[in-house]
Amino acid sequence: MTTLDPAMAPRAPVPATEGHVMAVASGKGGVGKTWFAITLSHALSKRGLNVLLFDGDLGLANIDIQLGLMPDRDLGSVVAGKLTLNQAATRFSAGGFDVVAGRSGSGSLANIPPSRLQLVADDLLLMARGYDRVILDLGAGVEKAVRQLARTASTILVVTSDEPTALTDAYAFIKITAIERPDTDIRVVVNAANSTREGERTYSTLLKACQGFLRIAPPLAGVVRRDTRVRESIRNQTPLLTRYPNSEAALDVEALAERLLAD
Ligand SMILES: Nc1ncnc2c1ncn2[C@@H]1O[C@H](COP(=O)(O)OP(=O)(O)OP(=O)(O)O)[C@@H](O)[C@H]1O
Ligand SMILES: [Mg+2]
Repeated sequence: MTTLDPAMAPRAPVPATEGHVMAVASGKGGVGKTWFAITLSHALSKRGLNVLLFDGDLGLANIDIQLGLMPDRDLGSVVAGKLTLNQAATRFSAGGFDVVAGRSGSGSLANIPPSRLQLVADDLLLMARGYDRVILDLGAGVEKAVRQLARTASTILVVTSDEPTALTDAYAFIKITAIERPDTDIRVVVNAANSTREGERTYSTLLKACQGFLRIAPPLAGVVRRDTRVRESIRNQTPLLTRYPNSEAALDVEALAERLLAD
């Protein structure tokens, strides 16, 4: 017997993890978003997830540089209408994940009109269905284009260091997000901490501001310690988890990835 009532029709179950977009944001530039987005993608793919890393830094895209990739396809070609987003993905085999590079032969994508950016964002959400997780590396700042892309994410990992300016900017990003989209799952990553303990103290400073002024309590996703191996592996364009799997920063990101999956 067939049923005509759409409410009664069987629906394909959508796995809870399918197409889950996690954005990596910061406010302040240079706190380690891109490096962290890459290393988190690697850690998640090591745990058997099918991961897409998307370079959403429209001004200074540089995932390809950190990975030593020379992609012949990128977001620029998508924006120019030459490729679909799916066609723009490149396999990064050393990390076991796919990448949509942001670099554009025609220069920066910073001035892309909002309507066009929205098409990219909509396509990203469609493409995300083919992955267990999409990690979206955002540009610094809180301007409109950054927020527009961030809206594709159900979870936003806000990266900060212990510098007062990084903390203030992380707070500003959290505030705007909490006002614009109160249901966003915001979590904090303290990067380049001198110790786990110090990183936790940095988090608690930010937490107090969020509780006091915004009445929200974004949880700590994790602390990643400052580690000279990070710069070294970037310089060698080799992933940290491959080159120095037992370094402090590698262990911290692995543990953070593990906790993200446990939630
Ligand atoms: N845990 C860490 N320990 C030591 N150095 C780090 C750590 N994380 C990041 N760095 C250093 O910080 C530099 C900047 O990192 P990255 O380019 O990822 O920052 P970003 O936030 O993406 O910057 P932008 O805002 O310009 O996009 C890296 O080149 C790296 O050397
Ligand atoms: Mg970056």
